[in-house]
Amino acid sequence: MSDEAFETPCALIVMGVSGSGKSTIAVRLAERLSWTFEDGDRFHPASNVAKMSAGQPLTDEDRWPWLQAIADEIDRVCQAGGHVVIACSALKRAYRHVLAHGRRDVRIVFLRGTQFLIADRLARRKGHFMPPGLLESQFKTLEPPAADENPVTVSIDASVETIVEDIVRQLGLGAAGGVPRRSST
Ligand SMILES: Nc1ncnc2c1ncn2[C@@H]1O[C@H](COP(=O)(O)OP(=O)(O)OP(=O)(O)O)[C@@H](O)[C@H]1O
Ligand SMILES: [Mg+2]
Repeated sequence: MSDEAFETPCALIVMGVSGSGKSTIAVRLAERLSWTFEDGDRFHPASNVAKMSAGQPLTDEDRWPWLQAIADEIDRVCQAGGHVVIACSALKRAYRHVLAHGRRDVRIVFLRGTQFLIADRLARRKGHFMPPGLLESQFKTLEPPAADENPVTVSIDASVETIVEDIVRQLGLGAAGGVPRRSST
């Protein structure tokens, strides 16, 4: 196997259903690594924003240009030698395929938790309205990343600090700044 298998990631995609903690974890992970944080929602075209504001669900056709815009940003940051943590639900394998587009330096971080735990956290979350049934539909849509996507999977039934350290450890990123540590596995 070539050295490419151990390439230091330049982009991490923190994924999971609504309320799994993407924004919370991605922000803290970016701080921990001294990387940039991006919210994937920022890359929606105006037409999607208008639809969402009107309460209309997005179709996959609506999503492709949005996902492609995030993929373009990943290329731009990585080409410039930067490092970014992106919060993006990326529930379907096909979505993640657009985001990672075969890059081995883009890693998927899957926040795994039960519907019961996440419903409880959403009920406590301030300043967000959660339409009934949304969480259930998110779990129906979710395609957990398969082994060939080389994901880092973490249980969200832990403190934010513990989750962040778990991710850093699984990625083999050491001190702040993300010095790569080679793994023999
Ligand atoms: N490890 C944790 N322990 C306790 N509470 C948490 C943890 N992670 C996140 N939370 C809380 O759970 C709620 C949901 O987290 P957050 O908003 O980060 O999720 P999200 O995946 O970004 O959701 P959305 O898809 O709606 O943007 C927030 O109130 C957050 O403070
Ligand atoms: Mg969020």
